[in-house]
Amino acid sequence: MLIEPLRPVHATDYRALMLEAYALHPDAFSSSVAERAALPLSWWQSRLSEEPLAAERVLGVFQDDRLAGVAGLSFESREKLRHKATLFGMYVPARCRQQGLGRRLVQAVLAQAAGRLGVRLVQLTVTQGNDAACALYASCGFVPYGVEPYAVAAGPGYVAKIHMWCNIGLPDVRPSSLT
Ligand SMILES: CC(C)(COP(=O)(O)OP(=O)(O)OC[C@H]1O[C@@H](n2cnc3c(N)ncnc32)[C@H](O)[C@@H]1OP(=O)(O)O)[C@@H](O)C(=O)NCCC(=O)NCCS
Repeated sequence: MLIEPLRPVHATDYRALMLEAYALHPDAFSSSVAERAALPLSWWQSRLSEEPLAAERVLGVFQDDRLAGVAGLSFESREKLRHKATLFGMYVPARCRQQGLGRRLVQAVLAQAAGRLGVRLVQLTVTQGNDAACALYASCGFVPYGVEPYAVAAGPGYVAKIHMWCNIGLPDVRPSSLT
C-alpha cells in the first residue's frame, strides 16, 4: 500500500475513479457525473498539478499499482483565509473498503495540510446520514460545527450537509467559543 500525491500522469485513472464515485454515490458529492464527465482531461490534469504551491492537491492510495482511493485538499489563496484548507472528493471503491485505506488517506491529507505554511485547520462537509464517512472523519479528529439544510439538490429532493473541522495548529478552543 502506497499513498502519494497524484500527478498529471494519473489523470485518466483519477477521472475514472471519480466518475464512478459520482455515479454510484450521487448523494455524497456536490458534483454530478454528467457535468464532470463533460470536462476535458486537461481539467483533471490541472487538478493534479505538481506545483509546490498548487491550489489543490489530490492524494491517491495504490494497491498492487492500482489506484484504490483518493482524497483531495484545496488551499485558500486569500491572505485572511490561508489558515484554512478543505478536504474534498474522498472516495474508496467498494472493492477496497474497510481495510483502513480511507483512514490512511485522511491522515495523509491532514499531514499534507500541516506541511503547507500557515494552514491551521482543515474543513469538510459530509452528507447527513453518510454514517461511514462521518465515523471515519470523527475518528480522525474532525468535529461537527453545524448542519446546512437543503445543501445539495439530490434527485427529487435535497440533502443536508454536516460541516466538520479539524484543528491542526490552533489554540485548543471549542468552535462555539470562537468570535
Ligand atoms: C467513506 C469511505 C471513504 C470509507 O473508506 P474505507 O476505506 O472503507 O474506510 P476505513 O476502512 O479506513 O475505515 C475507517 C473508519 O471509517 C468508519 N467506517 C468505514 N466504513 C464504515 C461503515 N460501513 N459503517 C460505519 N463506519 C464505517 C469506521 O469508523 C472505520 O473505523 P474502524 O474500521 O476502526 O471501525 C468509503 O466508504 C467511501 O468511499 N464511501 C463512498 C463515498 C463517500 O461517501 N465519500 C465521502 C464523501 S464526504
